[in-house]
Amino acid sequence: MLAGKRILLIVTGGIAAYKCPELVRRLREQGNQVRCLLTAGGAQFVTALALQSVSEEKVYQDLFSLTDENEMGHIRLSREADVILVAPATANIISKMANGQADDLATTALLASDKPVLIAPAMNHRMWDHPATQANLATLRARGVEIIGPDDGAMACGEFGMGRMREPLQIAETLARYFAGDLPLTGKRALVTSGPTFEAIDPVRFIGNRSSGKQGHAIARALATLGCATTLVSGPTRQPDPGGVGVVAVESAREMLAACEAALPVDIVVCAAAVSDWRMDQQENSKIKKTAGGAPPRLALTENPDILATLAKARAGRPQLVVGFAAETDDVIVNATAKRQRKNCDWILANDVSTASGVFDGPTNQVHFITQLGTETWPEMSKDAVGETLAHRIVKHFQVQP
Ligand code: CTP
Repeated sequence: MLAGKRILLIVTGGIAAYKCPELVRRLREQGNQVRCLLTAGGAQFVTALALQSVSEEKVYQDLFSLTDENEMGHIRLSREADVILVAPATANIISKMANGQADDLATTALLASDKPVLIAPAMNHRMWDHPATQANLATLRARGVEIIGPDDGAMACGEFGMGRMREPLQIAETLARYFAGDLPLTGKRALVTSGPTFEAIDPVRFIGNRSSGKQGHAIARALATLGCATTLVSGPTRQPDPGGVGVVAVESAREMLAACEAALPVDIVVCAAAVSDWRMDQQENSKIKKTAGGAPPRLALTENPDILATLAKARAGRPQLVVGFAAETDDVIVNATAKRQRKNCDWILANDVSTASGVFDGPTNQVHFITQLGTETWPEMSKDAVGETLAHRIVKHFQVQP
């Protein structure tokens, strides 16, 4: 999926500029040409030499440099690009862009351009929340500037909040989708579940499991990369939100089912979540206390709804393709084949989750792909690769049965 576009990457002065060499590499991996423009602030965090080495292009820095103006004036620099990406975009450049200032090479190139502009903001969360920044962003949005991120999380200044620049891979994926327009799954809608569910025992304790969410998130990412409008309903995980995917965060199985039902109708459902089979019959509103010498409490459990089976019920509006996983420790293929029929789903990806397999929380997965036609055993591969392989099978399926 090579994009083959010319990207002008404007690097401004935020700590996240150190991620720009990786961003350049990711964009070039997609077949794009990347030319970098480094502001004075940006040069405090990343060197022109680093950007030049990874882009294999001259890095432009100075508005008044005669050589730069001779070789490539600011007007040509922006005109010769298919798209301008500002990453990281500081509060300062966002303000200058909103106000049409032109006091250095970056701002003059932006003002002289009629090309699409995307920005990946990065700043302290209070700067992000400030009404001035939000008003500037609203101005840019109204002018058609696409805003990528930012993410929530730990910041370089030691605080937490909204303002981390989105990861280079995710920014590159957003650009790939932006360029691609018509992708094989454009027009299709998918719902993916991921991660564990947490079932509260009392206000501090819960029943959970070891699912990391890596596999479900990778599937959502792969579907979105192929143009599918994807909703990811996820239990608590440490995975970053995949770019371009609508993420709904839930905790319990019942919340997950409600969020899934709210996302209907869809064409494709992939249930990769490790849903807790049971929840407390009666959740305690107060912390269960130890009583000196008393017996440990006995937890009375009740069964959770089966989300996959509910979504696959052959009612009007059943998604065209329903895919489940089967986490098995014994007789993997036999049990998973029975599970496919019992839950009325079209495909099941079965994996061995015995401790020795290292699947839960591990980077790789070994899958048996079970359909009504039989079983295919896929080689062990990364969870990202399993996501991509499944997404391509889904494309093939819709090519045959549009
Ligand atoms: N699943 C679900 N809702 C549940 C339980 C499971 O949606 N309450 C889905 C999972 O996301 C997965 C499939 O059903 O796609 C199979 O999950 P698995 O844990 O393998 O099976 P269980 O139904 O829990 O059966 P068992 O524990 O007996 O193996």
